[in-house]
Parts: sequence; C-alpha cells; structure tokens
Amino acid sequence: MKFFIDTANIEEIKEINSWGVLDGVTTNPSLIAKENRVFEEVIAEISQIVDGPISSEVTADLCDEMVAQAEQLATINKNVIIKIPMTIEGLKAVKILSAKGIKTNVTLIFSVNQAILAAKAGADYVSPFIGRLDDIGSDGMELIKELAQIFKSYDMKTEVIAASIRHTEHVHKCALYGADIATVPYKVFKQMTKHPLTYAGIERFKRDFEGVKSKGGF
Ligand code: E4P
Repeated sequence: MKFFIDTANIEEIKEINSWGVLDGVTTNPSLIAKENRVFEEVIAEISQIVDGPISSEVTADLCDEMVAQAEQLATINKNVIIKIPMTIEGLKAVKILSAKGIKTNVTLIFSVNQAILAAKAGADYVSPFIGRLDDIGSDGMELIKELAQIFKSYDMKTEVIAASIRHTEHVHKCALYGADIATVPYKVFKQMTKHPLTYAGIERFKRDFEGVKSKGGF
C-alpha cells in the first residue's frame, strides 16, 4: 500500500517525506484555506518537494469550468493530479481530461456505485471518505473492502485512495483490505510510529547497557 499525506502544510509534508515513506500528497480546498496562502503557490511548492502525485482540487460546478481550472492547475507541474468532485458534471470533466492525458482523482466518494462510475469515466484515482461515513453511522471500512474486491475482480486500472482517515486502525484495515493508497493526516502518521513496548524496550536496553559502557570502547 502506498502512503500519501493529507495536508497542505509544507512543514508536515517535509517531515513525513524525510521518513522515506511518502508516495504522494492530497489536498482539498479546506486544507489549503488553513494555510492562508496563494493556492497555486502552495501546490507548486508541494510538487517540488514530493516526487509523486499531488492532488489539487477544482472548485467549479460546471464541466467546462472544471476543465478550464484543471488545465491551469496541470501546468503547475507534471505530478499535479486534478481532484474532481463526484457529480454528473464532474464525470463529464473526467472524461474530457482523461482524453487530454490529464490525470484525475474523483473525490467525495461515498458508495461503490459512485466509485464505479468515476472509474468508468476514466478517473486515475477514486477517493472514498472513510471517516465521514463513520461520522454518519455508516461503515467506511466496509466501502474500502468492497471497492478493493470489485476493482480487483474487474481488473480496473483506477487506484483506490482511502481518504478521510481518522486513526491508526483505519490505516491498518486499509492495508488488510487492499486499498491501493491511504492518504493519512500528519497526526495519524505520528501515531503509527508508536507502541508502548517499543519505548519500554529502548529504556531497558539503555539501562542494561550502562554497565557495558563503563568497560570502555566507543
Ligand atoms: C481526501 O483527499 C480529503 O482531503 C480528506 O481525506 C478529507 O478528510 P476529512 O473528512 O478529515 O476532511
């Protein structure tokens, strides 16, 4: 499973990239707004840091406007992927962009049917939102499990990006169920590194080694 980070914060991206685990980045208009900077500049900076797909979202409602925005965003860098919302106009835009060789990530996916339509229209990625489904009492992980199974059985080229991840158990289950990619918030990446036995083990090794150090060596 590949790891993307779900943020528009440069420091967070640099930090996780330095761990050697980062395959790409997803942003959305809310994440960009938090940074209080010029949108295109943020995407350009991110696309220089990470050598992988960088999702950048259009905000228009109509197909023609989405395509125009997408074409502009695609000029920022060759690794910029256009995030398109899952609407009928969005599907039309995906078809056009796909024919032009511009890669798309269809976002705000909440059902298998939406994901299949997006894939058929030519999306390179689909982003089912796990956490937001859990929030309304639905089962986000079940959607990932079903999509992974269906996309595999039809040999679909579209990759599933598990999005709206809230905690480490979501990541664990994404890997188990066969998501192609998990886009993980910074906080959850940090939580993934931790286990109480790791820290207890380090402390014990240090304590036990004290006596060895007193015998010399480097
Ligand atoms: C995905 O690409 C979205 O940016 C994101 O995962 C949304 O997550 P949220 O539900 O935490 O806002």
